[in-house]
Amino acid sequence: MTDPVDARVTMGEGRTPMVALSVLAERWGLGGLWAKAEYLNPTGSYKDRIAAASMTLALREGRRGWIATSSGNGGAAMSAYGVRAGLPGVLLVLADAPAEKLASIAPYGVLQLSMDRIGPDVMAHLGQVAGAEGMLLTITAHAHNPRGMRGADGIGEEIADHGRATHVYVPTGGGGLLVATARGLRTGGHDAAVVVAQPAGCAPIARAVAGEIPEPRIDEWSTKISGLQLPVPPDGALALDAVTASGGWGAAVRDEDAWSAQDLLARTEGIFVEPASALALAAVRQDVDAGRLGRQDEPCVVLTGHGLKDLGRFTAPDRRPTPTALDEIGGRVRDWLGRDLMEHDGTRRDGTR
Ligand SMILES: Cc1ncc(COP(=O)(O)O)c(C=O)c1O
Repeated sequence: MTDPVDARVTMGEGRTPMVALSVLAERWGLGGLWAKAEYLNPTGSYKDRIAAASMTLALREGRRGWIATSSGNGGAAMSAYGVRAGLPGVLLVLADAPAEKLASIAPYGVLQLSMDRIGPDVMAHLGQVAGAEGMLLTITAHAHNPRGMRGADGIGEEIADHGRATHVYVPTGGGGLLVATARGLRTGGHDAAVVVAQPAGCAPIARAVAGEIPEPRIDEWSTKISGLQLPVPPDGALALDAVTASGGWGAAVRDEDAWSAQDLLARTEGIFVEPASALALAAVRQDVDAGRLGRQDEPCVVLTGHGLKDLGRFTAPDRRPTPTALDEIGGRVRDWLGRDLMEHDGTRRDGTR
């Protein structure tokens, strides 16, 4: 069990529902398919659990403030929970993070700095600054903030309490979420296999699990999936061990497949998540197609972040509502109801392909 969150800090994070994805389970021939709905946390991602635990620690230890790097979600979470703890915060964000992620940090009034690239050297430097200034380093990785990361154990513990998942698919960048989830599953006495889902263009942990590379780190990478752009994952070795110990495996997913899964989830199940989360669902689909999952399985996908976090794919002019006049509405409705089920992208209205 993880430490209780300070009463001044908590705002209802955690204890997220397990949502049944029944339409997709049926379509893919699975015994069940579950979503751990982490996008329902107060700032829209599972990072709230880590922020609540981190700020509890910072208060207990009398820290002067907190400092972290972030691709966006951790930044929003630390900023919000830092305000509740009454602690000033400093955030170093990725300059090309999705506009929605950056904008959603602005209201909290922390010092925001940006860099084009945030690697191990930058994280280590922030550790020095934190030490010199009496601040807590709240980067969401065990390598930098191991006690704060315990806040995420609840994800695994709650999946264990629910009791149904045979596999847990975790969208993975630095590896910290996966390590905490696997630990929580173990604490809860649940032996689901943990699958590390990464973008094919940046899959150091998945590739190391498969034995393709000796260590979970790569030099060249390319993916547009925000939150999963870590060629040198701070918790790579821990994540590799956690996957192997659970009997799980690695899944490398193309960005395009993550985006398709994002659309599919919205159109079939009414759930809108950010691409990183959808990537875990794409990994399930890939494993169904490969015959790795079937009727006897009930995988669970950890849906880590809300779709409103990254609207880049949905703001193009052709996604805007069609301008219309009053006397056109009736005809448009009739056309819509009677339209061919097969839409231009080859996806049926109900999302099947
Ligand atoms: C939405 C989302 N999903 C998954 C992850 C991956 O977590 P980790 O870096 O601990 O592997 C992140 C990390 O920022 C994230 O923002």
